[in-house]
Amino acid sequence: MRVETILVPDPGPGEAVVRIQACGVCHTDLHYKQGGINDDFPFLLGHEAAGIVESVGGDVTDVAPGDFVVLNWRAVCGRCRACLRGRPQYCFDTHNARQKMTLLDGTELSPALGIGAFAEKTLVAAGQCTKVDPEVSPAVAGLLGCGVMAGIGAALNTGQVGRGDSVAVIGCGGVGDAAVVGARLAGAAKIIAVDIDDRKLEAARTMGATHTVNSRSTDPVEAIRELTGGFGADVVIEAVGRPETYKQAFYARDLAGTVVLVGVPTPDMRLDLPLIDVFGRGGSLKSSWYGDCLPSRDFPMLVDLHQQGRIDLAAFVTETIGLADVEKAFARMHEGDVLRSVVEFA
Ligand code: APR
Ligand code: ZN
Ligand code: ZN
Repeated sequence: MRVETILVPDPGPGEAVVRIQACGVCHTDLHYKQGGINDDFPFLLGHEAAGIVESVGGDVTDVAPGDFVVLNWRAVCGRCRACLRGRPQYCFDTHNARQKMTLLDGTELSPALGIGAFAEKTLVAAGQCTKVDPEVSPAVAGLLGCGVMAGIGAALNTGQVGRGDSVAVIGCGGVGDAAVVGARLAGAAKIIAVDIDDRKLEAARTMGATHTVNSRSTDPVEAIRELTGGFGADVVIEAVGRPETYKQAFYARDLAGTVVLVGVPTPDMRLDLPLIDVFGRGGSLKSSWYGDCLPSRDFPMLVDLHQQGRIDLAAFVTETIGLADVEKAFARMHEGDVLRSVVEFA
């Protein structure tokens, strides 16, 4: 990673330039850096961000200079088949800025997830800007732009956790802990956190887990069944993204329960399950992209709940850092020391 001077074009039609105030360091940034997403180097990393709209293209009416916004990476089109069927969370024509940000020598940059917010200013599609209560801390609000929204949405939107449900969450990093927060918000009666790291289990408890299982020393499927009267959990949220943890989720759910896969697997991973078990156990197996969120519906709501003290999103901000410290933040992420490091801009 290098800190470089970049050129940000003035916004054209449908675009906005945003002055970034805070941007979280996410696994996906690391995946980009390692070439795990594509080879379109150089990347402008950073995508969990909040800031102030600085300027907008002539035709932009939804946001205006001065608005405090959280950036999203799925600006829905409103016109594709999914949008027209009333399921914009499945929009397959989401858009980004059309113009390119560049290095001083004209080299085009590829912004991570169409955002690129490890920068004082970035150019996005206006639809990627979602207005929220400007009283909230930018470091907290920005996290809704990716991992925290994915986890909360996995519980609320994809898993449809309801009052009194039993929920198990496998993998308690930022995404899994956010699923715990979502499950609690939805009124789950039992929230079982599973991880291989006791530090993570302790944190999950403060987020709302009612039970914890260290799956390094205890069989998580047995433990979850035992904690749920032998049935398994109504909703099991897999927030690791590995075949072995997915299998645990599959067998740890109630016969009629739901498995939600929100952890992101790598393309080489394969799942081997007896098909008779898939058939014999009812319920549903779902995946959750970005928590099946609708930014315009979910970001302002979650900010309001946070501001009212009904959820604590500040607990996800482990540390605030400067732009030069992102490399160190990747190392800390790898060690499992942080939920989120957040870059703050003066
Ligand atoms: N069983 C249980 N927990 C595990 C296992 C395992 N086999 N392997 C790892 N974990 C735990 C880690 O200890 C950690 O607490 O899963 C958690 C993963 O958390 P983070 O590394 O902080 O990742 P997070 O940001 O939460 O993202 C989780 O979602 O967005 C995707 O790419 C992301 O696939 C990743 C997942
Ligand atoms: Zn669409
Ligand atoms: Zn992310």
